[in-house]
Amino acid sequence: MALSCMRCPAAAGAASARRAAAQPLATAAAVSFARCGGFGRSAAAAAACWRIHAVAPQGAKAPMDADVKHVVTPPTSPKVENGSPSEITLDDFEDLSALCKNDDSTVSITVVGASGDLAKKKIFPALFALYYEDCLPKHFTIFGYARSKMTDAELRNMVSKTLTCRIDKRENCSEKMEEFLKRCFYHSGQYDSEEHFLDLDKKLKQHEGFRVSNRLFYLSIPPNIFLDVVKCASKSASSVNGWTRVIVEKPFGRDSESSAALTRGLKQYLVEDQIFRIDHYLGKELVENLSVLRFSNLVFEPLWSRQYIRNVQLIFSEDFGTEGRGGYFDGYGIIRDIMQNHLLQILALFAMETPVSLEAEDIRNEKVKVLRSMKPLQLEDVVIGQYKSHTKGGTTYPGYTDDKTVPKDSVTPTFAAAGLFINNARWDGVPFLMKAGKALHTKRAEIRVQFRHVPGNLYKGSFGTDLDRATNELVIRVQPDEAIYLKINNKIPGLGMRLDRSNLNLHYAARYSKEIPDAYERLLLDAIEGERRLFIRSDELDAAWSLFTPLLKELEEKRIAPELYPYGSRGPVGAHYLAAKYNVRWGDLSAEHYKA
Ligand code: NDP
Ligand code: BG6
Repeated sequence: MALSCMRCPAAAGAASARRAAAQPLATAAAVSFARCGGFGRSAAAAAACWRIHAVAPQGAKAPMDADVKHVVTPPTSPKVENGSPSEITLDDFEDLSALCKNDDSTVSITVVGASGDLAKKKIFPALFALYYEDCLPKHFTIFGYARSKMTDAELRNMVSKTLTCRIDKRENCSEKMEEFLKRCFYHSGQYDSEEHFLDLDKKLKQHEGFRVSNRLFYLSIPPNIFLDVVKCASKSASSVNGWTRVIVEKPFGRDSESSAALTRGLKQYLVEDQIFRIDHYLGKELVENLSVLRFSNLVFEPLWSRQYIRNVQLIFSEDFGTEGRGGYFDGYGIIRDIMQNHLLQILALFAMETPVSLEAEDIRNEKVKVLRSMKPLQLEDVVIGQYKSHTKGGTTYPGYTDDKTVPKDSVTPTFAAAGLFINNARWDGVPFLMKAGKALHTKRAEIRVQFRHVPGNLYKGSFGTDLDRATNELVIRVQPDEAIYLKINNKIPGLGMRLDRSNLNLHYAARYSKEIPDAYERLLLDAIEGERRLFIRSDELDAAWSLFTPLLKELEEKRIAPELYPYGSRGPVGAHYLAAKYNVRWGDLSAEHYKA
């Protein structure tokens, strides 16, 4: 059968099958089913289903178990524990097995915090996009869970306002939306009530029937209630015969200690394999493409070291402030919000050694080595800033502390620039400069790789004294308007010998007609499939916090005042001095950049 999900070409299917083969049988069944929509059932999958139903002992409560690891036992006295039928006969069992063979698996996705901003803005639209692309399994149910009182119809109405179809997929859009919404339900409950989660469990079971139930909980809630939810979901609403997984949104703590405490807390109820710590930047198309670019192109991989690369810049900027999120942001600041996770994850992917394979653990092993080889940040490696009010064209833009939820004397940085170093053989001495800011002049995320100058350059006469101005620069523009371009020196056509800088430009909109999926789509699908490659492992998280915690503590203990910059500007001047200290110019601020 052809794979209908656009994201699942035959090669991906093979990868899925390979992963499945290495996993316990029950998991393998779920993986192949989830990836391929109407994918045919294999004999092994059917057998797995049979075994799962066969072994649950009466009265036993399954832990919130990730990937079912039941032993193979003949079905002498089959029971479905904690399910609608608490006891079933052999006849029932045979019926169940028959059902199982055809239709034995279902995925229930519970969005905890469904009334919130992220759920509306990202999670439900991503789930709909997956549904539209036939990437969700045949049997799936979506539940919203939050304290707000809402009926199913009200949830559907709320969700319907944020669903969109891709520009290239307008066909049947409203029908698809209706079908999708019919599969969305709502359950109102407290986050710390086992009883309320038990009610949710009952509702989930009504939808799951006798199928193997796989359950995904998406914690789209403030971090202080993560543990309450995990505890209640674990005790009252985990799957008894399939996998149970939990996607945890950032922030994962505020420093090494709180992050370790959160991980310890989660591990009281979950094993590491069940925890999917999301960093949505890892789901962005061009971040995903980083490894492809480097490891599948001979022209790049040999250049990827201190020998040829002068510096690497990881730049994030937004042209709006923290309005509406000030309460959250003031407790975290830009270093925790963007650098310690999004930019650092990109850095690790960029700088890692070649992994043994594309398997999740091989990649994550290499990333963690990079993080552990990094020099912890010191105060002198960093510049911080905070935006202030600015009037432009008759409009006044508010300063950070004008937000009612932010203390007037807050020193929380809304901008930071930092110089990081990886103390290993490949990257020794190469500055990795990060810059992240809110309320700047533009919205952009990019990676800039500046190469060294050509030794003994024959054309140096054409470049003046500053050879570094004429070096190659590879730019990976993550967003918006995705592109990869390489700045090269080129002869201006004509009889003379004049050079200029031109771009070899791979502009995604011009090259690819398909709309780029949102990062949350990729990550949700991965979580359903049990693919962990793009999620953060706990040791990666520890290493990331070790790098930033001493700096954050010092900044906070000394209440270092951020340099103020006007809303909509290019950020504090200090960032230029910082770069100059490492003999670097910010690529995004060069005059040439504005000409392009
Ligand atoms: P919200 O503040 O909108 O919270 C989500 C829901 O949680 C609310 O609708 C509310 O539901 C419940 N809630 C809020 N505050 C509390 C509280 N103090 N105690 C108990 N319940 C509360 O968060 P977002 O949707 O913006 O974000 C969810 C998670 O995702 C957070 O961890 C956030 O840091 C992270 N995140 C958000 C991003 C975004 O763009 N919004 C981006 C990246 C990460 P109810 O009252 O109905 O129970
Ligand atoms: C989130 C940060 O993780 O990423 C936000 O908490 C930020 O502050 C957002 O705005 C940016 O994500 P994107 O995908 O819009 O670049």
